[in-house]
Amino acid sequence: MSSHPQGVTALSHIAIATAEADALAAMLVASLGATRGGEELLDEGGLRVVFVHAGPVTFELLEPQRDDHTVARFLATRGPGLHHVSLEVGDLAAALATAKQSGVRLIDETPRPGAHGTKVAFLHPKSAGGVLLELCQGPAEDHG
Ligand code: CO
Repeated sequence: MSSHPQGVTALSHIAIATAEADALAAMLVASLGATRGGEELLDEGGLRVVFVHAGPVTFELLEPQRDDHTVARFLATRGPGLHHVSLEVGDLAAALATAKQSGVRLIDETPRPGAHGTKVAFLHPKSAGGVLLELCQGPAEDHG
């Protein structure tokens, strides 16, 4: 068969780093007819994550709550903007193994907990055209 067992099955979400998630969510709702989804705190309260759904596209708004969080450092050095693109895979451990075998530099050698019960792992942007890629496995947040 030609299908790749460790392949990407969907675009999970596009993540944007912002100091003001509520304002950005309101803009997406007002301008794109998007709907606001759930939100949660990750990294022991260091990162607030707000989901916004626009048709088949999910945005993940990342609002750091502490100055020492990696997203806070991202904002301080680059300003607000695209933080990562998340691709859904059926088997994250297998996808990571395949990526590593192909010579891609991994940020996460093993899956770690993401939002809403997902498992995630990041590939280094130096190996991916300058874009931080997240591989994600698990239940997407209130799709549909
Ligand atoms: Co993400």
